[in-house]
Parts: sequence; C-alpha cells; structure tokens
Amino acid sequence: MQKNKVFIETYGCQMNAADTELVYGILQNFNYEIVKEAASADVVLLNTCSIRENAEQRIYGRLGNFKTMKNEKPGLIVGVLGCMAERLRTDLIEEKKIVDIVVGPDEYRRLPELIDIAFNGGKGIGVKLSRTETYDDIIPYREDGLQAWISVTRGCDKFCSFCVVPFTRGRERSRELNSILNEIKLLSERGFREITLLGQNVNSYSDNGSDFADLLDACAVVDNKIRIRFTTSHPRDLSDKLLYTIARHQNICNYIHLPVQSGSDRILELMNRSYNIEHYLKIIEKAREIIPGVSFSTDIISGFPTETEEDHEMTINIMKSIRYDGAYMFKYSPREGTKSFKMLDDVTETIKSRRLQEIIDIQQKISFEKNQELIGKEEIVLVEGLSKKSDLFFAGRTDTNKVVIFPFDSKIKEGSYVKVIINRASSGTLFGAKKVESSKLKVES
Ligand code: SAH
Ligand code: SF4
Ligand code: F3S
Repeated sequence: MQKNKVFIETYGCQMNAADTELVYGILQNFNYEIVKEAASADVVLLNTCSIRENAEQRIYGRLGNFKTMKNEKPGLIVGVLGCMAERLRTDLIEEKKIVDIVVGPDEYRRLPELIDIAFNGGKGIGVKLSRTETYDDIIPYREDGLQAWISVTRGCDKFCSFCVVPFTRGRERSRELNSILNEIKLLSERGFREITLLGQNVNSYSDNGSDFADLLDACAVVDNKIRIRFTTSHPRDLSDKLLYTIARHQNICNYIHLPVQSGSDRILELMNRSYNIEHYLKIIEKAREIIPGVSFSTDIISGFPTETEEDHEMTINIMKSIRYDGAYMFKYSPREGTKSFKMLDDVTETIKSRRLQEIIDIQQKISFEKNQELIGKEEIVLVEGLSKKSDLFFAGRTDTNKVVIFPFDSKIKEGSYVKVIINRASSGTLFGAKKVESSKLKVES
C-alpha cells in the first residue's frame, strides 16, 4: 500500500517541537511517510502557538499560503494542531474553509482516524483536553543527532493572569519516571549527548513520590556522557533539593531559566505569579551559593496593564542587579479568556515598544559584559559540528548554553567534550582555542 506523505510545520515553544516528534511517531505507526517539505506532502499540519497575538497572526498568514497550495493540489489535507487549535476549535474551520483538521494537544492519538475523516471529505476535529494523557508509551520520531527534548510534564495549573497556556494545554500532569528513563536509555544507545527535560513548570513534577529533583537525579545517572538540561522553572516551586542535585552531578547543566516577568511586586501580584521579588532574589542568591558558576536566563513582559514608569524602572533594576546571561523579552499581548484580558490594556503601543527596547538594550549590554568576563577562562564545550560560517571552525556549547567557536581539529569528533580557553567574545558568541578533550562535562569549581 502506498504511504501517505505528511509534513509538520512547527511554531511556538520547545514543547511544541517535542509534540511534533510525538505526532510523527504516532503517524509512522500508521503507515505514514515523513517528508521534509510541504510541497511534496499529502497532509500538511501546522503545530501552532497562541501565546501572543502576533504568534497567531503568523499562522493565519501561513494558512493563506496553504490556500493557494490547495487550489493547485485539491486533495491536499491541511490541519491545525497545538495551542491555537485548542483555543479556537471549530471557529478555525468555520473561519478558514481550507482547514480540514483541528486537533488539540491531548488528542494526537486520534490523528490517524481524524485524517481519514478528512480524506473522506469530512472535517476531523479533536479538541478535548485530558487530565491524564502523557503519551508515555509513544516513541517520538527523532532524526539522529546530539540533542533531544523530552516532555516530562504537560499542561499548567499556575494560571498566571496573562497566560493562555492553562487553557490550551489543560491541567498539569507528569509523565511516569520510568518511561522517561527508558527513553533516555534509547537516546543514549543512539549516541545522543544532550537532553532537555521540558514542562511549563518542571519543578512541580511528581510521580509516585518522586519530585523533580529525584527525576533529575535518576536521569543524570543513565549515561554520564549525556548533559541534562531542563526548562522552565517557576520561581515559586524551586527547591533547595533541586539546587543541590544540580551541584552534585557533573552532567546536569549549571543553567536555570527562571522567568521573573517583572521587577515590581505590584505587577507580579496582578500577574498572579505567586512570588515577590524578595523571594525571587533569595532563590538566586541560594543558587549562586550552592552551584558556583550557575547561569540564569529569564522572561520579561513589558507593558502589563497599569505598568507605570516606576514599575518599569524596577524591572530594569532587577535586571541590573541579577545580571542574567540571557533574557526573552516581550510586549504584553492581551489574550481572550485570561484574567488580565478583563483589565484595560492601558499601556500604549508606543510606550510598550519604548520600554521593550530599553530592556533589550540593557540585556544586550549585560550579556556582552558577562561574556567579556569569560575571556581567559576555561569552558567545557560539547562539540556540535562545524561552524555554520566556516569549515575551519567547530561550534559547540558550554553547559551554560553559550555558543563557542574554536578551530577545527581532525582528531576531535562531534559529540565529544573539549576544554576550550576563551579568547574573544561578543554578546551572543564566545571564541576560543582548544586545550584537550575532557572527561568532565562542566567546569569544576
Ligand atoms: N511556563 C513558563 C512560560 C511559558 S510562556 C513560565 O511560567 O515561565 C513563555 C513566556 O511568554 C512567558 O514567560 C511570558 O514571559 C511570555 N508570555 C506569556 N503570555 C504572554 C502574553 N499574554 N503577552 C506577552 N508575553 C507573554
Ligand atoms: Fe503560563 Fe504561568 Fe503556566 Fe508559565 S506558569 S505556562 S506563564 S500560566
Ligand atoms: Fe505557544 Fe502553546 Fe508553547 S501557546 S508557547 S505553543 S505551550
């Protein structure tokens, strides 16, 4: 039997990227062939994101392109997966006639059946959220490589007032610890070198009495040549036990993504973030004490309703006092159905843009300065391959997730760890010279 060809285009966060691999895994078991471009596919699926208005606008633009494609190839099936499918449900089909399938994050097992409905001229719709679905038993489709994602929790129960995720991904649930370890074993056999454990709030992981620190501990010992990363940590639930676990294992990266969102307690309260700046700073201080050399990144929203110049200044102050290695910064975007949607979006577009630009500039300066401080220091780099810009150089990453470029050496293989002395740095990249291969995965303190 001839196989149907499927292509998935992925938007949004790493969890969506991981879900795309999961969906490919499901479809492969049903005799689908994965292709690398929409033009050669019978089924095109967009795995979508709803986090901000502009994320959805992009998808609408893309659906416009697929309309043209479908005119040329009438049998083509177009589907929308992910957060936007969950948020807009049948509205998407009513509004965009070219959409044949709408499937939310908890109904991917039904995709083969829903695609069949579409092939028979119907509309395939699956948008129920589940309290239990974790896709434990599905082996995601992954090409060979060094880096893999594993979702360890799905959904979110935090209900930050600005955020659409609890509505698009449903209630929080954890995947079984053993199924995660088994997946890491398979990845280890295939030569993977870096695994990122994913969840909207990994710190609330819980399975049969095991918490997130226990999970990390167990993951780290599967293969001591595999670096373990994780994201995202919510400041409310980050435990000392977790910090000690990171410090204890030389293959758990010294890197914590800890979104602060705002430097103002008043705004944090309105955001329903459930911590204040004092608590947040204590975590940072403790982490720096327990994990020498730990690096932090963050997320910040500019222009949340009622944000004043003083609130904005407080955000700048917190950035300057913590000195993050990196930050993802966004303009507030009101999302229907969330609590803050009911608040007046009273910070004008001009002010939002100005404040956003200010914090971007500040972060850029801090990132540059922090990278300068690394000149003359030794870093342990996982060699990822040749640099994109030149075959004369290798590119790799430090455990703090910084890109390092250093001279090619035929004795070094991709996937090995090397010590590199940093001799130059920009705000985004480090440059260095190799010393020797390293049996350690992070710099000893
Ligand atoms: N679970 C993660 C965040 C996931 S969404 C956490 O709690 O940190 C990623 C980031 O998008 C958020 O941290 C926030 O900074 C941003 N974001 C979410 N909703 C937004 C909105 N309505 N407008 C602007 N930025 C938003
Ligand atoms: Fe959204 Fe807050 Fe959950 Fe993060 S923790 S996904 S920001 S509701
Ligand atoms: Fe976007 Fe959904 Fe991720 S809204 S950020 S794809 S959880």
